Amino acid sequence: MDAERKKSLMAYLRFAAAQPRGFMYRAKTAGAPPTTQTLTSKKEQLAALYAKYAKCIACPLAEQGRTQVVFGVGNPDSKLLFIGEGPGRDEDIKGEPFVGRAGQLLNQIIEAMGLKREDIYISNVVKCRPPGNRTPLPIERNTCKDLLLFKELAIIKPVIICTLGSAATQGLLGDEIRISDVRGQFHDFQGILVMPTYHPAYLLRNPAEKRTVWEDMKKIMTKLAELETT
Ligand code: URA
Repeated sequence: MDAERKKSLMAYLRFAAAQPRGFMYRAKTAGAPPTTQTLTSKKEQLAALYAKYAKCIACPLAEQGRTQVVFGVGNPDSKLLFIGEGPGRDEDIKGEPFVGRAGQLLNQIIEAMGLKREDIYISNVVKCRPPGNRTPLPIERNTCKDLLLFKELAIIKPVIICTLGSAATQGLLGDEIRISDVRGQFHDFQGILVMPTYHPAYLLRNPAEKRTVWEDMKKIMTKLAELETT
């Protein structure tokens, strides 16, 4: 060992000998630098994600008349996340999910659950408006899921996801899933509880099904209440 290294080792040993017992352990824990997770809030992580895809051209929807990419909104610390199909005309103009007629009905459902829209998180499987509000194609859905939806889920870490309609439900539970077979029951998606229910736009055409959706919402409310007490 050269003289310089020996000198600094001796200095360190003198320093260590003067410290209280356990100082090395404390240095590792209390003094350890915070991880990225603790440094950056969920809001900041989502903002960074959305900034990256603000001009996304990864799927065909980019060139089919969308005005803007419509990202999720709400409280990223919410336990509950609603996922719809994709922006319609109003959402494409305003840049926010569920602001048209279906959105107003969704707001009523949320309020009937004793919640406020801004307390929960709302997003879509695809973030760009499909032309004529057609159902997103598998290529569009899968691309957007990988680039955005799954990353939103990894940041928000919701406990319960309510998928609204077929496209959202298939997006999480599989392309072959039929909404009428799976709605009203909790399913698993990577450790997250998924409650599929009918889309508010479907309820506007079939108001009698509002009762069915309300039954599904009651199951979500019961589960959220259980989670509060455990
Ligand atoms: N329908 C959806 O699925 N999402 C919206 O944002 C609006 C209508």
